[in-house]
Amino acid sequence: MAILINRPDDMVRITTPELANAYIEEQIASIKEQVGDKKVLLALSGGVDSSVCAALLIKAIGDQLVCVHVNHGLLRKGEPEEVIRVFREELGANLIYVDAVDRFLDKLAGVDDPEEKRHIIGGEFIEVFAEEARKLDGIEFLGQGTIWPDILESEAGIKAHHNAGGLPEDLQFELVEPVRILYKDEVRVVGKELGLPDSMVYRQPFPGPGLGVRCPGAITRDRLEAVRESDAILREEFAKNGLEGKVWQYFTVVPDFKSTGITDGKRTFAWPCIIRAINTVDVVEVTVEHLPAELIDHLVQRITTEVPGINRVLFDYTPKPPATVEYE
Ligand code: XMP
Repeated sequence: MAILINRPDDMVRITTPELANAYIEEQIASIKEQVGDKKVLLALSGGVDSSVCAALLIKAIGDQLVCVHVNHGLLRKGEPEEVIRVFREELGANLIYVDAVDRFLDKLAGVDDPEEKRHIIGGEFIEVFAEEARKLDGIEFLGQGTIWPDILESEAGIKAHHNAGGLPEDLQFELVEPVRILYKDEVRVVGKELGLPDSMVYRQPFPGPGLGVRCPGAITRDRLEAVRESDAILREEFAKNGLEGKVWQYFTVVPDFKSTGITDGKRTFAWPCIIRAINTVDVVEVTVEHLPAELIDHLVQRITTEVPGINRVLFDYTPKPPATVEYE
């Protein structure tokens, strides 16, 4: 069941704190009217849309909102901790944290087909979320961070409108979608006014299957850790060098092959780490951000010395097309 509210044709683009606050007040009233004294369940990934949706719901109904954060082991370094800190400690959310790392990684062990990996991650996510939902009493609503481009894209047949949909038959809730009529840039302005940190509001796009698609082939815990650690170094260096917020998306990939190297006079046989940094408007066509040579040298030095299992750093100079952004 959904309350199908569409973006009014004459709606002014939310670009200022005043417009954001007016939107927040309007939504609080409408959430209160829809939900009354009932409970709402929300899958909180830590992404921009679900975070802003959660912050709005907390403001409107406080602990009638139950957030579930599933750690599938494929999140970036520090992300689960940040979700807990911001939502539980700062915003006082009623937050259930589910450590499902072993469960996901065990299911993914030995699976090298990209589509099968995505299928397992998506399916397992719904299962974990459904298990948590069944443990709770009196939930009547499901909060979703659906945004306006999701609706437009699903109407145009570009992508199915997924989000927390696909729940089993016994778990059918009425939807609450407080950011449904907003464009992404408006979601960010609203999030900022709700007091969310910049690291959440201006977060880069991050695929649902997370680091899983940046650990091509069958995921192993050690190679996944190499992706996570090298990604953290890349983000830290981009922030230090003024590239954060300037480059559209950047990340590392650790492919499943090894090459010979040398450290302290001894032979090594380890993985390469590939750096990808891209700019785009619509992600249909993508150009490569060319990094300063000194920064590349510094990244090579840090990644090869600080990340276990890496003895070589490569840079991906391929635009889209012919390559896609992600490797799987
Ligand atoms: P591709 O690899 O298709 O990526 O050129 C385009 C953009 O989409 C992101 N991406 C995903 N986002 N779920 C998501 O929510 C996914 O499965 C997924 N796959 C790719 C990718 O990070 C890039 O920004």
